Formats: sequence, structure tokens, C-alpha cells
Amino acid sequence: MSPAQPVGAPLVDGLPPEVAAPAPGARCGAAGPGRADGAARPFSVYLHVPYCRVRCGYCDFNTYTNLHMGQGASAVDYVSTLAAELRTARAAMDDAGLPARRAATVFVGGGTPTMLPPSDLAAMIGLVREAFGLDEGAEVTTEANPDSVDEAGLAALAEAGFTRVSFGMQSAVPHVLRALDRTHEPSRVPLVVDWARRAGLGTSLDLIYGAPGESLEDWERSLEAAVEIGPDHLSAYGLVIEEGTRMWAQVRRGELPMPSDDDEAAKYELADRLLASAGYEWYEISNWALPGHECRHNRAYWQDWDWWGAGPGAHSHLGDVRLWNAKHPLVWAAQALSGRLPVAGHEVIDADSRLLERVMLGIRLREGIALAQLGEPGEVGGDEPGSGAGRAPRRLVPVVGRLVADGLLDGAAALRGRAILTLRGRLMADTVTRALTA
Ligand SMILES: C[S@@+](CC[C@H](N)C(=O)[O-])C[C@H]1O[C@@H](n2cnc3c(N)ncnc32)[C@H](O)[C@@H]1O
Ligand code: SF4
Repeated sequence: MSPAQPVGAPLVDGLPPEVAAPAPGARCGAAGPGRADGAARPFSVYLHVPYCRVRCGYCDFNTYTNLHMGQGASAVDYVSTLAAELRTARAAMDDAGLPARRAATVFVGGGTPTMLPPSDLAAMIGLVREAFGLDEGAEVTTEANPDSVDEAGLAALAEAGFTRVSFGMQSAVPHVLRALDRTHEPSRVPLVVDWARRAGLGTSLDLIYGAPGESLEDWERSLEAAVEIGPDHLSAYGLVIEEGTRMWAQVRRGELPMPSDDDEAAKYELADRLLASAGYEWYEISNWALPGHECRHNRAYWQDWDWWGAGPGAHSHLGDVRLWNAKHPLVWAAQALSGRLPVAGHEVIDADSRLLERVMLGIRLREGIALAQLGEPGEVGGDEPGSGAGRAPRRLVPVVGRLVADGLLDGAAALRGRAILTLRGRLMADTVTRALTA
């Protein structure tokens, strides 16, 4: 992605001016009431909690097992430092002339947020209320590791205003959990989901397929166990060997095999089949939900809404401006506690990059994207009989036709002017994005 402006310097004096006004050539600025595109986009908040008990060998998230880093970055001080950051963020938005926007969704992620006591997580909801306000009926999620919660803690989270909890289950098969360095027993997952449900929380489970040594039968067992537990929502991620992780080093040394594309494709297809037959509908490539239980916060990312991210390494997204925080908790805490935005850099996205981003994210969703948005206004011309591309811009008609013929895009949807991935297309979403934006 080529930013229209180079990566910015750390922000000492507040937000970059582009958050308040559309950048030249950009389609809109940070949309709030009365902003350039005339409509308020929903606003979300992400809070990062950077602690884990054990670091899983595959994970490259910004997370640490040292809970006593000191100087505002220790677990005991975490909420106060976050409070300082959010106060500064609110003031910076006021200075930039951005109107107050209540959060429609809040997501506390990590790391493992439930490494902190429930009272700290409850306090975080208060911080969001203070800094931005919280919509009536807002979706408020925390991630959790199955062995870092108990029944009373989950009840306290529900009491404090959390509406859902997402547990990292990953697998139901002991040798697969071991290969992933997971510390919980498979029997822990139905228990914690039951506790969460009794507390009135919505529930989600994360699964990973393609771990070293995982057979198709192992994966089937995990899916069946997840369906048996019956959460409202399920995410299934193909294992990614992230550069720099312990698992990456093991693969590089030849101690572990690289996950194979064919194996991951077969496992994805199995997941879609089993989950669909249990009543879960796919709404994003890696996400399935019972009707009415899609994660609104996830949708905010894929639909290109605005969000503020707080905590070390968190990213924010306001219209055409992307900002990212200092990654190391000590650096982040020092800046936040000195009353500065702990932002390490920013970029302003130009119109072409933004379109690419919208296609890349939007194509992942069940409703796909409107083909007309890929052309210039008025450049719609694929409605000739047999063009197979409905209201696609004229130059894209043959491209869409080829993607339909290759079984990657749904033909009927294309005739209605939408690019919607088929099951095969979901396995090759990047290819489709490249073809549509070339
Ligand atoms: C922040 S963790 C969830 C909460 C908690 N830390 C846990 O792991 O139980 C987010 C999720 O990302 C997924 N994930 C992390 N690294 C991954 C990787 N390299 N490949 C695939 N999925 C990954 C896992 O499914 C994990 O549950
Ligand atoms: S997967 Fe979850 S528990 Fe494991 S290191 Fe990453 S954030 Fe921590």
C-alpha cells in the first residue's frame, strides 16, 4: 500500500490535521456529524492488554509474559496508564475539532485481557464511557484464555457491562494443543463457555487449523467438539507461520513442517461444511455465527469504520488517517503518562490505497462488494446481455467474467452488480482482490 504521505513523525502536539479535513484527492475525512462526507460512520474502540501467562510458539502479537515491567507498564498500573492515554486522546480529538462520537463497539484484546482482574476490565469500560461515551446497546467484548477465567470473574464482567467473551480454544485434541503450546485442558472449554452463558454473556471460540501433526480427523474432532459446546460465534484461522516466532525458527531449521496449502484448504472446506450443517453461517472468511450473533466489532474493521485503539502497539483509524502507538509497553507508558499521545507514526491514505483496502477487506464479507465502486462515477457498462458482470465498470467486465468462470465469484451475484466469493473464492481471496484492483 502506498501512503499519499510518508510515515509521519511521532505526534507530539496532537492529531495530524488530516483527521479533521479530507486529504487532497481522498474520498472523505474522518466522518463524524457534519464531516466532509455528510454522514457519521459508527465509531469503535479497541483496548490492547499486552500480557500472557505463556507465549505460544506461533503467536507474534504484541504480548509479554513479564507482568512487572515497571514505570506504568506493569499489570497493576495498566488501567491508570490507559486512562492517561484515553484522556489525552479525547483532548486531541477536541483540539482537532472532531465531534464526540459514542462507541458502538468496544473490543478488549491482547494478549490475554483476563490476565488482569475483572475489576480492571470493568474499569476500562468506565474509561471508554468517560472518553467517548458508549452507545446504548453497545457490543463490548473481551478476549480470554480458557485457563485465565473463573465463574465469579465472568459474572463480574457481565455485571460491569461486557456483552460477549471470546475464548481461545484452538483445538480439542491434546497433542494439537501441545504443538501449539496451549496450557488448558480440552475439558476446560465447555466449562468456561457454560459459565459465560449463565452470566448472560455471548460466547465465541477461536480455533486454529493446520498445526504441526494435526490430521484431518483431529480437525474434525475439534470442530465437532466446538459445535457440541455450541457458542454463538466461531472463528477458524489457518495457522500462519509468522516470521520471528519460535515456530517460524523451528520450521526454518526443518524441525517442523510448513503447513501445506492443500491441507489447509481441505480443513477450511470441512469447517464450512460442518459449521453450516450445525446452523452457523459464514459472514467473513474466517468467521461463522448463529443468525444474529455476528461480531459487530469485527465488522467495523472490515467495513472500514473508524476506531480508536489504545495500549501499546494499538492502531487507530480515522477516515483517511492511520495511526499506530509505540509498541513496547515501557515506551508507550512513558509517553502516555507524560500527557503525550503515545503515537509512533501515522500515514494518510490516498484514494487508490483506500479503494484497495476497501476491496481487500470488503471482499472477505458474505455480502461482498458493489462492483460499481471500483470504477469512476458513470463508468458502469457491463449490462450487455451475457456480459456476466451486471453493473461492473466496463473495463472490469471481462475480469469479473473470468473470475466467475474460474469459480471464484458467484455468477448470480455478479449479474446483480456484486462481487461475492464462492467457497473456492474464499480460499483465494487475495487472487480475487488483485484481479479486481489491477
Ligand atoms: C489474542 S488471541 C486470543 C486470546 C488469548 N490470548 C488466547 O490465545 O486464548 C487471538 C487469536 O488469534 C489467533 N492466532 C494468533 N496467532 C495466530 C497464528 N499465527 N495463526 C493463526 N491464528 C493465530 C488464535 O486463534 C488466538 O485465539
Ligand atoms: S495466542 Fe493468545 S495466549 Fe498465545 S501468546 Fe498469543 S495472545 Fe498470548
